[in-house]
Amino acid sequence: MNKSVLGVLVIAVLLVGVSSAPLIGQQSAMSGMKEKSLYDRLGKKKAIRAVVDEFVSRVAGDARINKMFMATAGDAGRLKKFKANLVNQICEASGGPCKYKGKSMKAAHMGMGITGTDFNALVEDLAGALDTFKVGQHEKDQLLGALGPMKSDIVEKM
Ligand code: HEM
Repeated sequence: MNKSVLGVLVIAVLLVGVSSAPLIGQQSAMSGMKEKSLYDRLGKKKAIRAVVDEFVSRVAGDARINKMFMATAGDAGRLKKFKANLVNQICEASGGPCKYKGKSMKAAHMGMGITGTDFNALVEDLAGALDTFKVGQHEKDQLLGALGPMKSDIVEKM
């Protein structure tokens, strides 16, 4: 190999080394970076309110479960309180600055005879509401994953 070819090769190797070093550094810094809270990624309280409004109207139109919400839907004050409880619950569960002050899930649903099928229908309505606002799959999975463990306190019948 003549001297100038060798020189070019050495320079090329040095350049690759120098240019890839910060890239590797950047990647490891990125992977160590903390993801924003789910609350922030959902779009904070205003976006959660919009999702809850859409969710509640989907539930009201869902013949599989809307009978259970008749009394709630027919009383404006009760509906408003129910929605506010849902907003605070989702806000808190997603890492937001709110505090849910409603009943425990067990106490709130006791005696309603909610089945696993009812539960799945309601989750479907929530997922549909999240889709309406183009919430990403990752955020959807995280929110539904945070609510999923409540199932055993809510479902009373198979
Ligand atoms: C992950 C699932 C669910 C969550 C997070 C949830 C959340 C809540 C919350 C926060 C309340 C208000 C509690 C309070 O008043 O202090 C509530 C009440 C209620 N929930 Fe659920 N719930 C779920 C599933 C269901 C299902 C599957 C049904 C029936 C199909 C249902 C029917 C009701 C009804 C009828 C009320 C009473 C509303 C009112 O105050 O008038 N829930 N729920």
